[in-house]
This record gives sequence, structure tokens and C-alpha cells, in this order.
Amino acid sequence: MTKVITYGTYDLLHQGHINLLRSAKELGDYLIVGVTSDSFDRGRGKLNVRNNVLERVEAVKATGFADEVIIEDYLGQKIDDIQKYDVDIFAIGSDWLGKFDYLNEYCKVVYLPRTEGISSTMLRAENQSTYRIGIIGSGRIAHRFVPETKVVNGAEVTAVLNPDKDKAAAFGKVHRLDAFSDFDDFIKLIDVVYVASPHLTHYDYAKSSLLAGKHVLCEIPFTLSKDEALELYRLAEENNLVLMEASKTAYCPAFGHIITLIKSGIIGDVVDVKASLSKMVEPPTRELDAMQAGGAITEHAPLTIMAIVRLLGIDWIDVGFHTKKEKGVDIYTKGIINYPHATSSFTLGIGVKTEGNLVISGTKGYVYVPAPWWLTSYFEVRYEDQRKNKKYFYSYDGEGLRYEIQEFLSMIVNNRRSCYKLRRRESVAIAEIIEKYRNGENVTEI
Ligand code: CTP
Repeated sequence: MTKVITYGTYDLLHQGHINLLRSAKELGDYLIVGVTSDSFDRGRGKLNVRNNVLERVEAVKATGFADEVIIEDYLGQKIDDIQKYDVDIFAIGSDWLGKFDYLNEYCKVVYLPRTEGISSTMLRAENQSTYRIGIIGSGRIAHRFVPETKVVNGAEVTAVLNPDKDKAAAFGKVHRLDAFSDFDDFIKLIDVVYVASPHLTHYDYAKSSLLAGKHVLCEIPFTLSKDEALELYRLAEENNLVLMEASKTAYCPAFGHIITLIKSGIIGDVVDVKASLSKMVEPPTRELDAMQAGGAITEHAPLTIMAIVRLLGIDWIDVGFHTKKEKGVDIYTKGIINYPHATSSFTLGIGVKTEGNLVISGTKGYVYVPAPWWLTSYFEVRYEDQRKNKKYFYSYDGEGLRYEIQEFLSMIVNNRRSCYKLRRRESVAIAEIIEKYRNGENVTEI
């Protein structure tokens, strides 16, 4: 019996897939089809797949060509499968010509002619409308944002707004965008807004954009008070719009996996979460300007508190801070959030350097995410018995903003108002803790 194996994503199954599967089946007697898992696709940068793995498996089965369907979940699996299933022929479309020659060591490799004029990418583009994104603000994060949208289906940055005409024009020139200094002119020509302006303007811009009927992705710190956050989410809800806090780490695959592993009990009950983030800055910079709400808290608390509330929830008992200030700006702040059954702390610096890692301690073991944990690409689950330790590796593509952009557009397309990767109530809780600090509640200066 000649066994043939082939692999693919098979998203929005089309005639090209059917032709390929038919030809692959004709090469032998038994066809095994490897369908990529959702996480494997995300890990290799395929962020736009429409059908989930179960739908894609069902679609492949329905063609009637597959004798067996397996899931492809890791790099290098093809070599394992070929040996495990005693495969004679590995078949794949000619778009991969030469790429799988290394498998010749294990079986015969056949490149089958690809059907011209059709692909999942084409189909996804055809039935997806493109959202014109307008960026408010033209600073560092805005520069990083534009290239990230290019890998997300349906996202196209078309305009930038900065009240400073020259700054808007300069940004527009670099990224080939329409540049505006007037909000009303800008908002008319776009579908969604990315607020990446200075901290103190987030609330006003997000509110005006929602009132103008636009979906909003808002940079961190989302707002500087609980009431502002609540009001914005209420406005979004009333106007049936998506409002999302751009807490990039919350949407990245590795961080999501840490949360699900811990929630499944891998380290027992979580008793302590310690999250640190420090980035030294030199004056003059807005991070050191009290008038612009500079400081370690406003700069770095959103991501660290996000990790804590994702793991321990929002029903804390008390919150306190120790802080070191210079010229009215906290250059170092340590916060402690206590819960009935756990404690947590975050350590933030812009003028004090510290190790930027994340440690989550539980009754059976702990998770260690080395610095920079907020760009999560690698973490370890560790136990007393070190032989049980496990390391997890992920790719963190580009600037990592593509994951939040993808989630944001998917919420719009699928008419979802809430995202399980960062709930609205968690986002409000983050604003509340930042507000407590800014109001001086339980703050001790050192
Ligand atoms: N294939 C083909 N003809 C096409 C499209 C795909 O023969 N027009 C083959 C690929 O070469 C591969 C298999 O179908 O062997 C599964 O490919 P997959 O990547 O799932 O399909 P694409 O349509 O190429 O998907 P995408 O556009 O997302 O890359």
C-alpha cells in the first residue's frame, strides 16, 4: 500500500484545495491530510485564518479524498509524521517548490501543480471590507503601528491627526498618509481610530471619536480614572461600537498561553504575582514631565496591572504604593495589590533600573517569564522537582502590535463588544488603580 501525506491550512476550502487533494490521493492508496492547528498558524504569523481548526478539518473530510486527518501543531512535525505513519510520498502544491526537499531523506517528495487564480488569501480579501484607520498622534508608538497593520487583513492606515500641522505632515510623508490638524476634517474620512496621543488626551479623543460613530483602539494608559473608563465603555455600548484598550501583551499568543496554562491548574493555586517593568529615560522627555502625566505609573502600570488582574481578578482587598519622586514625577513605584487568597506586586521604573520579569507563584510550582516579559516569547514552568520543568517558546512577530490589531478588527467584523483576552471590567480596574495612585491613596514616598 502506498501512503501519501499532505499538509495545509485549508481555510475557506476552495477548488485549488480540492484539486490538490484529488491529485495527492491519486499518487497512492491511502491519503493522510495534516491540517494546521489554530495556534500553530498564529505562531507562524498566519493571523487571518477565518475557519477554526474544527471547521477546516470538517471541510477536508467533506471532500472525500482524505482517509485520515491529523493536526499539524509544531515545527518539525512532518518528519515525525512521515516516520510514524510509514509514509511513502509527501505531496504539496508547487508554490512550495524546493522548500520540502529536505524530506527526501525520509520519503519521496512530489510537488503537484497548483491551481492558478485562487487562494484562501484571495477569498479572505474578497469578502472582507477594508477598514480605514486614522491614527491620532504621531509619536514613537504610532510609527511602530503603521507597518504592523500591513500584516492584518482588512486594516489600512489612511490618515494621521496631530494638532501640530508640521508634525502631522511629517508623519504623513513617512507613511504616505493624509495628514490632518483638525479633528472634524480627519474623523470624516476614516472608519476606525487608533488613539496614540499623549496620555492626558486619550479620554477626550476616544470620547469624540465614539461620539462621531467610530470604533476606537486606545493606547495605554487607556484613561487615568475609573469613571472615565466606565463612561467610554458605556458610550461604546450605547453606540454599538468597539472600544478596546491597546494593552499589547494581553493579545499576544504566548501571554494568552500562560494564562490558560495557569487557569488549568498547572502550578496549583496562584498565591503571588510579581510583575516588573523598567525602562530608563533621559530628559527632556514627556515621561519625565509632570504636566503631561509622566511617570513610571502612567507609563508602565497598565501592562503590569493587566497581568495581575488577568491572573487574580478584580476583587482585591487593598492597594498600596511606595514611590520615589523627582520633580513631581515618580521615577520608581512599587505597588501591592492584596486579594483574599493571594497577593501581588508590580515594580515600575523610569529612573530606577530593575529586572523586568514576571513571576507567578503557585502551590505546586511557578511560572517564570524573563525580561522583557511584556514581549512574551518564552517562559518556563518550574517545580521543586526540576525534572518536571517545562520551557515554552513562541514567536513574537514584529513589534507585537499585530495581535491587538487583529483582535480589534475581528471584534468589529464579528460584532463582539467584549474580548476575553482583556475584559472591559479588567480595563476599568486598571484605570482605577492608576487613579488611586494619582489621588495619593495609600501612597508612601521613599
Ligand atoms: N493549493 C493549490 N492551489 C491553490 C491553493 C492551494 O494547489 N490555488 C495547495 C497548496 O499548495 C497546499 C494546499 O493546497 O498544498 C493547502 O494550501 P493552503 O496554504 O491551505 O491554501 P492557500 O489557498 O494557498 O492558502 P493561503 O492563501 O492562506 O496561503
